[in-house]
Amino acid sequence: MGLLSVLALSASISVAACATTYDYIVVGSGPGGAPLAANLARAGYSTLLIEAGGDEADNPTYRDLGNFIEACNDEASRWDFWVKHNDDPKVDALFKHNTWDTGDGTFYVGQNPPAGAKHLGIQYPRAGVLGGCSLHNAGVSSLAQDDDWNIVANLTGDSSWEASKMHRYLKEISKTEYLPAGNPDHGYNGWLSFIADDPSWAKQNNTPGVRIVHKFAELIGQKGEDALTLLSQNDLLSSGPNKDEKSSLFNMVYHANAQGKRSTPRDFVTATLADPAKYPLTLKLRTLVTKILFSNSTTSPRALGVEVMEGASLYRADPKHTPGAKGPISQIFANKEVIISGGAFNSPQLLKLSGIGPASELTQFGIKVIKDLPGVGEKLGDNYEASIMALTKEPIPAGLMTTIFRTPNAPTKKRNIYAWCGPFSFEGFWPGFPTNYGPTQWECAMVQIGPKSQRGTVRLRSADPQDTPDINFRFFKDQGDADISELVSASNILREAWKAAGAPAEPFQELHPCPGELGKAPCTDAMQAEYIRTQAYSHHATSSCAIGADSDPMAVLDSKFRVRGVQGLRVVDASAFPVVPGAFPVVPTMMLSQKASEDIIADAKKA
Ligand SMILES: Cc1cc2nc3c(=O)[nH]c(=O)nc-3n(C[C@H](O)[C@H](O)[C@H](O)COP(=O)(O)OP(=O)(O)OC[C@H]3O[C@@H](n4cnc5c(N)ncnc54)[C@H](O)[C@@H]3O)c2cc1C
Ligand SMILES: *[C@@H]1O[C@H](CO)[C@@H](O)[C@H](O)[C@H]1NC(C)=O
Ligand SMILES: *[C@@H]1O[C@H](CO)[C@@H](O)[C@H](O)[C@H]1NC(C)=O
Repeated sequence: MGLLSVLALSASISVAACATTYDYIVVGSGPGGAPLAANLARAGYSTLLIEAGGDEADNPTYRDLGNFIEACNDEASRWDFWVKHNDDPKVDALFKHNTWDTGDGTFYVGQNPPAGAKHLGIQYPRAGVLGGCSLHNAGVSSLAQDDDWNIVANLTGDSSWEASKMHRYLKEISKTEYLPAGNPDHGYNGWLSFIADDPSWAKQNNTPGVRIVHKFAELIGQKGEDALTLLSQNDLLSSGPNKDEKSSLFNMVYHANAQGKRSTPRDFVTATLADPAKYPLTLKLRTLVTKILFSNSTTSPRALGVEVMEGASLYRADPKHTPGAKGPISQIFANKEVIISGGAFNSPQLLKLSGIGPASELTQFGIKVIKDLPGVGEKLGDNYEASIMALTKEPIPAGLMTTIFRTPNAPTKKRNIYAWCGPFSFEGFWPGFPTNYGPTQWECAMVQIGPKSQRGTVRLRSADPQDTPDINFRFFKDQGDADISELVSASNILREAWKAAGAPAEPFQELHPCPGELGKAPCTDAMQAEYIRTQAYSHHATSSCAIGADSDPMAVLDSKFRVRGVQGLRVVDASAFPVVPGAFPVVPTMMLSQKASEDIIADAKKA
């Protein structure tokens, strides 16, 4: 390390732009990496944040949260991963939005591709841009279940992960704009703005939308006439006791400000960069990290830095990538640590490319094994999602009806479904999504909480860092019937409420899972189960470099985010969660990043 310190010293007294040594290097600027890099710099440590994508914040598509669909489809930031849901290609072939490359620069989406088209798989969206997926996501903000934190404390014996101790991190980063100041359960001075929906549409007098939402309330154990109050006042970011057992209507919360502009970790990074005299943060955009560099010690290898390839669109998930494109390669060093925050697909890929992963897989691709860590890229999990979609006779004027509830067949007392209903269309992801069915479209979208299977994998396709990995979620592999029946039970409850709509919305023509006139067409649980088994989708990937117990050979990280078996290397992003956190991961990931910042700074002070 002596040589590196000398390098750092000489670099800082010569030209800062030539400095190739920092205290910390953070790879990836999503909700995991960006807050961490800014926090480390604010604590006085020279920090380099490396991001493969560019910065799109001045682009109006990304500025207004309302442009979510355009942002997701936008080539400026889009990273397309083509994934599998099942080991059996015959099951995946039943997925209606399979995508093919037609060879003329366009995609074919469907099940009858033109001759000669090349099958890509199921589109899984990600964003390669400053701010990561928080720059194009829907901004939906909700908490993990308390037990999603408690389980980390249980597995590792580290009580700092107990749910009662985690809410503080949310308060630290929050700027709550939807509640008057002074609520002790919320923060008001952080960098992340939150706003809530406007439920005033529910003041309508006895309209189809109001009749539906009153019925929802009743079906989940509340009073119909309380619907407006519940929609206005039930707070998704409140940490109240037994919150995970409360079935109710809620007011949807978003990470955006009162003007409807996206609020993201990108803003925290740029605010930190704006004061270079105070905060030693350096941002390197359009730079793909290709490898983590290690010392030659065989007993205790130490991460010394990273190898990077500079240039835009070098990664093949980027639709702007030109085949064969390369960039200059160089090395950058860290005095203290390297922290990987590439997200649930890229963090395990980068560890494996660098020699940290299952030895058999690494040797298959000629990669020198630094540490045989069989859990890297395993345990990939996700929330299952499905939708019930209909066309109504006349449009239903209504806003969103957001509910979190427990289905009667849930395995515990905890609620297991987050659903939102309204005149919209969202049936998963494919190039050019969603389908617009016109003004009479009516949907309930469902996210299952607490999926029982985490048998997904992120495996190498090659040793080429510009290649995407082979990703298979293995939907419903363990106890799949139980998860599917929870989603079926939820759709029966939601559909039951539709039957309260009356004129002029009725009759509803359901498109799926039970096609035909609502109330007349056959709609068995078995039909719905088959639909969900083949058409479920997801976009909240986590747990591919999971924290686990000392005794667990599949554990990748310890409770302080340290990669097991090596020195100076951590992973801080959604891949660290041992279980899928709640219904939506972005807020839990930012809380985790805030916790990691505190842990890493505490370690630095001890050293
Ligand atoms: C379309 C969409 C909608 C979503 N909607 C919601 C929502 O409404 N609510 C919610 O809670 N969650 C939502 N999510 C999920 C949520 O945004 C993610 O879980 C979250 O962003 C994960 O954060 P992360 O830091 O782990 O990874 P990411 O956000 O994926 O960030 C990783 C970053 O690392 C960079 N990177 C990766 N590899 C390298 C490399 N080798 N070199 C340099 N840089 C690299 C990437 O470019 C990226 O910027 C959505 C996701 C998508 C895709
Ligand atoms: C944690 O351990 C305690 C004590 O064994 C147990 O009661 C609790 O259910 C566990 N919680 C989780 C989330 O595993
Ligand atoms: C490790 O060993 C190789 C081969 O001897 C050498 O080229 C390299 O510089 C060494 N790396 C470090 C970090 O010492």
